[in-house]
Amino acid sequence: MEVKDLIADHKSYVQALRREFHQHPELSFEEVETTKWIAKELDEIGIPYTINPDRGLGLVAEIKGEASQADEGKTITLRADIDGLPVKEETGLSYASKEEGKMHACGHDAHMAILLGAARMLWQVRDQIKGRVFLLFQPGEETGHGSNYMMSVGDWYKRTDAIFGGHVWIDLPVGKISVEAGERMAASDIFTITVEGKEGHGSQPQQTVDPIVIASAIVMNLQTIVSRNTNPLDSAVVTIGHIEAGSSWNIIPDKAVLGGTARYFKREQLDRIRGAMERIVTNTAAAFGGRARLDYEARVQPVINDVAMSALATKTVTHVLGKKALSLMTKVTAGEDFSAYMADKPACFAFIGIGNPKLDAVHGHHQADFKVDDSRLAEASAVYAQFAIDWLAS
Ligand code: NI
Repeated sequence: MEVKDLIADHKSYVQALRREFHQHPELSFEEVETTKWIAKELDEIGIPYTINPDRGLGLVAEIKGEASQADEGKTITLRADIDGLPVKEETGLSYASKEEGKMHACGHDAHMAILLGAARMLWQVRDQIKGRVFLLFQPGEETGHGSNYMMSVGDWYKRTDAIFGGHVWIDLPVGKISVEAGERMAASDIFTITVEGKEGHGSQPQQTVDPIVIASAIVMNLQTIVSRNTNPLDSAVVTIGHIEAGSSWNIIPDKAVLGGTARYFKREQLDRIRGAMERIVTNTAAAFGGRARLDYEARVQPVINDVAMSALATKTVTHVLGKKALSLMTKVTAGEDFSAYMADKPACFAFIGIGNPKLDAVHGHHQADFKVDDSRLAEASAVYAQFAIDWLAS
């Protein structure tokens, strides 16, 4: 029995499970019921697991292969994230969210269903597994801190030799999978800039230090980080998404606050971007006689796929679904906290196609009308399961 022969058997389980999860999203670091539910599904299969003792958030299950002696062989972890978003669903689907103001608008419901499908498949072919497979169900991905949280619980990460995960992706047609090597997703950092001036009447600017003018100059000067400080062959983004200052049309305030995000694909770009930002913020404010402070949080690292694992994943996808399923996809500027697992272990992150105009599955992730073509998720389950087997045998 081969994993790919199990796709048809588990197709309806994976799709139905995803729709059930979809109706009951929980927000980041509140996924207690979701964790219990995953545990119940694992109980039905017979796979042992450990729920995080901390707050009952997230769990790690373990399948011991029977193709090797106990404690022989390596360990690979397959990961799914499990949180929903504070979005009010507007899809009109029969299985839309039943939780007011919460929605699985990123597709993490699909990730749980895919991994539980893979769990079922792996359990059936455990005599083919050489070593062991951890199934990691991670809370809090949307905060960027969920992976670090999971790494701080138990010893599963220390015992893991490699890690594989994926994200359903709306821009990729259903049936396609991308597992390319190298840069795949951007770092996703957050910063706040606080500008301090001197308040006064709007008619007498000469008696003030106007923080709004300083903030405006900072916004413009920050544009040079990408245009003048970044290697044109690399990519980066510096976006200000938030400005707050003042309360009235005729008062110059004493403070302005800016907030934004920085994105880039090489870990070494962090120091350059943060350094340039620091310099521009401090010196622009000084040039206008004011002061400004940068608070920069290097939150999520870039997702960079290991070359050897990516090559193996390419073989796995070809074997399980045929060459036609493999799709080339450009890297994306979205972030993923899966990257934290990649810092010390070889890892590979896949994009799984869910786009389909016939089902109106065309709207972007995190949007209220986000829809998923979930008819072929079991194919992804088979890729996860077979990849674990292939990697352990390699
Ligand atoms: Ni996501």
